[in-house]
Amino acid sequence: MADTPSKEAWSSRLGVILAVAGSAVGLGNFLRFPGLAAQYGGGAFMIAYFISLLLLGIPIGWAEWTMGRRGGLAGFHSSPGIFYSIVKHPLGKYLGLFGFIVPVMVYMYYVYIEAWCLGYALNAAMGTFSEPGVNFGEFFTKFTGAGQDGASIQFGLHDVGIFVLLVYVFNFYFIYRGINKGVELVCKWAMPILILIALLILGRVLTLGTPDLAKPEQSVINGLGYMWNPKEISTGLKNPQLWLAAAGQIFFSLSVGFGAIITYASYLRRKDDVVLSGLTAASANEFCEVGLGGLITVPAAFVFLGAAGIVGQGTFALGFNVLPYVFSQMPAGAFFATIFFLLLFLAAVTSSLSMLQPGIAFFEEGLGLGRKQAMMFLGLLTAIGTSLVWWFSKDLKALDTIDFWVGTVCIFIGGAALIIVFGWVIGIDRGFDEAHEGAEMRIPRFYKPIMKYITPLYLGVIFVMFILANVFGWNFSFAEPKFAPTGYITDLVGPNHSNSARMTFGFIVITIIFICMMIKLAGKRWDAARNGGNKS
Ligand code: PHE
Repeated sequence: MADTPSKEAWSSRLGVILAVAGSAVGLGNFLRFPGLAAQYGGGAFMIAYFISLLLLGIPIGWAEWTMGRRGGLAGFHSSPGIFYSIVKHPLGKYLGLFGFIVPVMVYMYYVYIEAWCLGYALNAAMGTFSEPGVNFGEFFTKFTGAGQDGASIQFGLHDVGIFVLLVYVFNFYFIYRGINKGVELVCKWAMPILILIALLILGRVLTLGTPDLAKPEQSVINGLGYMWNPKEISTGLKNPQLWLAAAGQIFFSLSVGFGAIITYASYLRRKDDVVLSGLTAASANEFCEVGLGGLITVPAAFVFLGAAGIVGQGTFALGFNVLPYVFSQMPAGAFFATIFFLLLFLAAVTSSLSMLQPGIAFFEEGLGLGRKQAMMFLGLLTAIGTSLVWWFSKDLKALDTIDFWVGTVCIFIGGAALIIVFGWVIGIDRGFDEAHEGAEMRIPRFYKPIMKYITPLYLGVIFVMFILANVFGWNFSFAEPKFAPTGYITDLVGPNHSNSARMTFGFIVITIIFICMMIKLAGKRWDAARNGGNKS
């Protein structure tokens, strides 16, 4: 990388931790987590969730931090570059593909939801949700375009359009300002504000009592119980879908295996700690997820609607349809709705920024582009994807398709690539030594066998189960096996296929091929630099 030396770096230890925590704390904490936990019956889900945290989230996170810092010292900041510098085989760099594809393609739909948050915050502030007779379901369908393809390409206050443009400008502006003047700055402000808002809302929710005396069972205590009381733990734990959901949530929520942390960690210096920082960022995420996210959304909805109002509501419906109604029923509801959606927006922004940096880094160091050019290139690529999501909005089909194939399937593969390279290519002993350089705490020794054997194995089992459940649609019964592929498959093949899902899938495939070609090109540049001996 002699010709594109990177001068970017974090300005402080707190800065990098806040940035990684900012990446981790996002919509996953305040919407996805409560939705899943409620769906799978609280207690049982939490058991699988914590096992995944200990066996997947934390160890893969440490591997990612360590490999990122090492790649950065070799002059690389993108996932393909970092894998290139660590794995000497010519195909090694392609293992870094996922660390590009996943953040960049998840960004394409994540910003779309980010735009809803901003739009909802503004609408709440302008009193849209306090008007008499407002139909929240209709508003959601119109705003997001979930009713009809192309319906949301409009630009009024009640449409997503203007907000999509705003969040694009916002994200790219701060990414353009760089690691410490952009990302770090936003996270330093957004994270404390976000936690403050969450505490305020939590205080409001926990003091709701029993607002409707005619329905005494709808109390805060019962709402918390609905979410957290262990129900049928042993049956719950026999459900493979619950384990899949828990593992997927850990990856998504901690931003682990995405390529975001590896890039952020590449801006560290040799003696900067990674072990404690990784654990601190993960703990901050868990505090926001379990301690804040888990206590707000579902109990609030329960108090006003009872269990019936929550069951069967998808994550989005819970956040953007049920909650605005719930807020409208509270004293000072407009205020709380406004700050709640502002909270979601801030959480989302710090996450989406972390999805852009990996792409920028790759275009800069892989293709030798300048920062502006790299941004334009990435802006164009992500805008094509977001346009697809925006246009094919009926049933949020395009969004769902990318979320499944990239945001779920590819993450498992990317996570596996990370942990296998750490435990087997670098080697677990050397990997541990490296992780401990400058470390302010030691990784417990029993994590060695975990990281070498158990994590990859656990990941493999989960992945196979995932394919069996979703692709083949097996009901996991040997006595009466049934195979009914899920919608993600029947959307693509068979008589009931969906053209928008097919188009989106095609777009994913084309993007992957395109990026593989770029990686090939980048490899040639890097080889030349390496052989030329002028490597920085
Ligand atoms: N962790 C984020 C959330 O919980 C999502 C995310 C994933 C962000 C990957 C960056 C990278 O919403």
